[in-house]
Amino acid sequence: TISAVPIADNEPPKSYAPNTEERDEVLEQYRDYYNNYLEVPLHIGGEDITTSNMASIVPPHDHKHEVGRYHLATKKHIEQAIAVAMKAREKWVALSWEQRMSIFLKMADLLSGPYRAKIVASTMLCQSKTVHQAEIDAACEFIDFLRFNVDFATQIYSEQPISSKGIWNRLEYRPLEGFIYAATPFNFTAIAANLCTSVAMMGNVVVWKPSESQMYSAKIIMDVFRESGLPDGVVNMVSGNPEMITDTVLNSPDFAGIHYTGSTEVFKGIWKKIGQQIQCYKTYPKIVGETGGKDFIVAHHSANSQEVATAISRGAFEFQGQKCSAASRVYLPVSNADEIIELLKKDIQSFKIGSPEDMGNFITAVIHERAFDRLANYIDRAKQSSDAEVIIGGKYNKSKGYFVEPTVILTTNPNYETMETELFGPVVTIYKYPQENWEDLLDLVDKTSPYALTGAVFSKDRYAIDEASKKLENAAGNFYINDKPTGAVVGQQPFGGARASGTNDKAGSPMNLLRWVSTRLIKETF
Ligand code: ALA
Repeated sequence: TISAVPIADNEPPKSYAPNTEERDEVLEQYRDYYNNYLEVPLHIGGEDITTSNMASIVPPHDHKHEVGRYHLATKKHIEQAIAVAMKAREKWVALSWEQRMSIFLKMADLLSGPYRAKIVASTMLCQSKTVHQAEIDAACEFIDFLRFNVDFATQIYSEQPISSKGIWNRLEYRPLEGFIYAATPFNFTAIAANLCTSVAMMGNVVVWKPSESQMYSAKIIMDVFRESGLPDGVVNMVSGNPEMITDTVLNSPDFAGIHYTGSTEVFKGIWKKIGQQIQCYKTYPKIVGETGGKDFIVAHHSANSQEVATAISRGAFEFQGQKCSAASRVYLPVSNADEIIELLKKDIQSFKIGSPEDMGNFITAVIHERAFDRLANYIDRAKQSSDAEVIIGGKYNKSKGYFVEPTVILTTNPNYETMETELFGPVVTIYKYPQENWEDLLDLVDKTSPYALTGAVFSKDRYAIDEASKKLENAAGNFYINDKPTGAVVGQQPFGGARASGTNDKAGSPMNLLRWVSTRLIKETF
């Protein structure tokens, strides 16, 4: 008998403990990047293309120090990237899927070995992540996406319909007829890479627009793509005015789909534009996107207070709260709230804030001045509001880097603005509810936000858990019981949400890969 497709193991994170080679290596790479100037060209069809316009790259925790620049494309460059992708498609689609998979497995090995310090250090430097955050994201999650998706793809390609005497039915999982646009976010190097690789793995070609705040690690990603043997033109990286790039891409009749992570408003705008132009496309474009969250933690009065406090501090403040999955609205029963808040305070007081170069820091800077100013505004308004108060943190300073203290707002109004709006930073809001109103509370949690990405419920009472699970069935695509709502691991917790959070095609799963094929059924009779 032939055994089933093996499933990858998760890449174990390195510890970067003091006095280890791995720590020295990553710090040396970080300092090298910090001290040497990098130019990031456009990468189109294997060529580095420079233009006459450039924009600055600065570390968010040290924003007066320019570490490089990236080139800005014109409309002509985007049209060229599309033409080159379509040309590369001719050979890429004809390659057997086994040959394609070899490239992505090699990519994973390069990241696990010689590219690890590079991808981790670049993510630390220009997306301001601590070494542990960068390791989990840019090394482990990136590698996991590659290895697990190769196995999922292998399963997909092996899945065939039944046949009978005189009839042979077979399925060909073909690439889409056109190119795919990947528009990716700054907050996860792994997500940016996966939005390209998962699509390319299934035989498609890509025009990739990384976030302007991720150009440094985007360059390293392109380097590893090349070194792994990904043929020229399969993934083409462009940077420049985002609206111009998106408009140019959507105007092409060969546009066959978008793989997107970013803001809800931009995604809705793209969807609308695709609809308005539907007559121009050869095929209905696939639209796959993940667009944010207002993720909840709900504690029942039977919950363990320490577990809830830890979930809030980790779920809300790890990665500076710049995760679409970050806990940002918390519901505590009046009976346990003060105890939980005290424990939370203790935990937060132990967090050190500063540059990722100092590996003792737990929190670094938020991504850019716009994000900083927005967070500062919400914090200031809470300080002045009669509905809310800042009970922990609340200070911010942008003189050297965009640093915002981990901040806890307490509100008496369950619809207070920071209970409803995604802030994308280290700010969480708590609302205390009367513990006897569990069912009403669950209704409130369900209705407060248009998003439905992640959520967590804490309880020792099985009936309360069951009720929460049922009442909140549409409120979170990733629903956690007695655990924080962040930290989905590829292969274990496929990730994504519905409502205003996205199309819920679960990154790192066969569900996502199936969006990138156009299947041909062949029936042959004898
Ligand atoms: N996949 C990331 C998490 O679950 C965003 O936290």
